Amino acid sequence: MSQFITFEGPEGSGKTTVIQKVYEKLEKEFDVILTREPGGIKISEAIRELLLNSDDDMDERTEALLFAAARRQHLVEKILPQLNKGGIVLCDRFVDSSLSYQGYAREIGVEEVKAINEFAIENKYPDLTLYFDVPAEVGLNRIKDNQRDVNRLDKEEIEFHHKVTDGYKALIAEYPDRIKVIDATQSLEKVIEEAYSTVINSLKQE
Ligand code: TMP
Repeated sequence: MSQFITFEGPEGSGKTTVIQKVYEKLEKEFDVILTREPGGIKISEAIRELLLNSDDDMDERTEALLFAAARRQHLVEKILPQLNKGGIVLCDRFVDSSLSYQGYAREIGVEEVKAINEFAIENKYPDLTLYFDVPAEVGLNRIKDNQRDVNRLDKEEIEFHHKVTDGYKALIAEYPDRIKVIDATQSLEKVIEEAYSTVINSLKQE
């Protein structure tokens, strides 16, 4: 059974709205928690604040290490206890975000970023990952239209966001069994329906 499920995508892919809806549906039937990265618990939310809302220049490797540190604490304090008692975890972003954003887009190198993350997660990769596929421009325009708070990474040039989606495409090719692609340019209702059925099918598979 796929218990550890992550939602990934570029800025404005709609994954945060969709994960909430999927959670509300699952909750009726399963023991499930909804959480997010960076964040999810006190220490990691404090690191999130530092990562996303600071105006100070941050070295890219410091950034990668802070994302990995937030992930470690979140995993140990919240994700693993839920999985160990047989529950389901829905997590908005996880290790693939670091591989795409820090590894590919910041050009630190995927293998380097993978190495620090493997130290942090001790091989606890998600069982299932849903990738919300939307072109970088479409996602960024949605953020503008919805007047969502703009974070430090949203402010990067469009080339950065193209590299993020290229990075995700490489990961999808590398992990085709784990990462399922959802066309996030469809109507919100359709995206929710597809995401929910992908999760349910995978929960009921084993
Ligand atoms: P959010 O907008 O989905 O809440 O994500 C927060 C931002 O942090 C988003 O711009 C992606 C970025 N991020 C990384 O660069 N690396 C990571 O490992 C994670 C979890 C998020």
